[in-house]
Amino acid sequence: MNNKELVKAAFDAMQKAYAPYSCYKVGAALLSKSGTVYSGCNVENAAYGPTNCAERTAFFKAVSEGEREFLKIAIVGGKNGNVNDLFMPCGVCRQVMAEFCDGDFEVIVARSTDDFSVFTLSELLPYGFSKSNITE
Ligand code: THU
Repeated sequence: MNNKELVKAAFDAMQKAYAPYSCYKVGAALLSKSGTVYSGCNVENAAYGPTNCAERTAFFKAVSEGEREFLKIAIVGGKNGNVNDLFMPCGVCRQVMAEFCDGDFEVIVARSTDDFSVFTLSELLPYGFSKSNITE
């Protein structure tokens, strides 16, 4: 699975977004080390707080299927599903990534399957708090 294919999977996932309040549609595609792709979309809620981001949907699907090791995630998003710019993951999603991924985990943010940037998790969450801080 190359980056272009993973971005395509994120665009497909974005079509499933449930975002009636913000109208921001977000899609993510997470590649596990086992080679399986887990897709995710944002799922909003009338009470706002229970809303789940696309990236966390993908991670929680994967972890609940027994996956623990990941290579990279592609993320796309935009108002009404129109992707005009890079959609950067929120701080909560970066923290969830840090629970399961090392600093070299790749975060691919895309405008299209031909126009994307790749960041490492350590670039997006420097000096983060992780399980290494509370375990021996
Ligand atoms: N959202 C995501 O899906 N991922 C992020 O990293 C940030 C925000 C969603 C949540 C909400 O449904 C919409 O984008 C607007 O905040």
